[in-house]
Amino acid sequence: MNNVKDNLRDLIGNTPMLEVKTIRPDWKVYLKLEYFNPGGSFKDRTARSLIEAAEKSGKLKKGMSIYESSSGNTAKALAMLSAEKGYKFVAVVDNHAPADKLNSILAYGAKLHFCAEKEGDEGGHLVDVRRNMAKKLAEENNGINLDQYDNPENPLGFYKTLGKEIFDEIPDINYLVGTIGTGSSLSGTGKYLKENSRVKIIALEPEGSSHFSPHGHGYFISGPGYPAGAVLPKNIDSSLFDQHDYVSDSEAFNTMRFFAHKKGLLVGDSSGMTLYYAMKFIQNSPQSSDIKKMVLMIGDSGESYLTHAFSDTWMIENELLDHTITDRLAEFYI
Ligand SMILES: Cc1ncc(COP(=O)(O)O)c(C=O)c1O
Repeated sequence: MNNVKDNLRDLIGNTPMLEVKTIRPDWKVYLKLEYFNPGGSFKDRTARSLIEAAEKSGKLKKGMSIYESSSGNTAKALAMLSAEKGYKFVAVVDNHAPADKLNSILAYGAKLHFCAEKEGDEGGHLVDVRRNMAKKLAEENNGINLDQYDNPENPLGFYKTLGKEIFDEIPDINYLVGTIGTGSSLSGTGKYLKENSRVKIIALEPEGSSHFSPHGHGYFISGPGYPAGAVLPKNIDSSLFDQHDYVSDSEAFNTMRFFAHKKGLLVGDSSGMTLYYAMKFIQNSPQSSDIKKMVLMIGDSGESYLTHAFSDTWMIENELLDHTITDRLAEFYI
């Protein structure tokens, strides 16, 4: 009976770690399978931290409405916990989010408030519009905006839980590879690991995203990334990142499809990014006699991308299918 929980919060975290085999005997690659969280992504940890801190401070009271801007997964997680705890939840979203993510939010009984792109708007502007809209709606309706972008409780939750879990599982970790949107998951997890191990942190963003370069362009990846022109979140702590790089839509999506078709792992877009990048990084590293351990963040489930990266039609329409990527992956991940 020890494993029986009586609420959802206690089902969040302690996700499994899976080792995947590669052709390189001098590397060990581990996947932290965050889609085992009850809401299907590591953003369940975000929702739990933000809600509990707001409850503790007295700002969030029974029956109140929560308004939050999200690319999908944070909203899904907030919708889940709001349903359990009796809050009303309104997700402030845009059409960049895959329909599957938006439908899950609705399935929890939450509402969607759409911010549409106006003519001449840049993508970055739209993220700022969403964030401001969530604040405005909260003010006008005596609700609360939890602000996953700037609220330090978001990275703190990852510091206390995901960072510790990964350290307990792989204390001699050499590399952590993750992606950044609000920057909270990688900054919080990375901070704990940096304080306790000799880890190097690699931060990835979608090609076109503008965390590290202001000159972005459009991209389809919906979880991580920050469009050019948007005000960067305070929760990104770049001082923790030893390296950063970009992964394209095509590289991420074809990797997701390879892992589903050939390994039975149905993972989301940022996981496609970390799995692709791990191959590139290891292939470019010289063979050596010492074993290196790399942990990849597997942030969400592929179930949020069924009408998106997992749809042949959608991939063909957007000219994203690329068999050279899957061939390369098949030679590396054995
Ligand atoms: C699947 C997925 N991966 C990565 C990220 C980026 O996480 P963070 O906002 O903590 O940087 C997000 C953010 O929504 C996400 O949904």
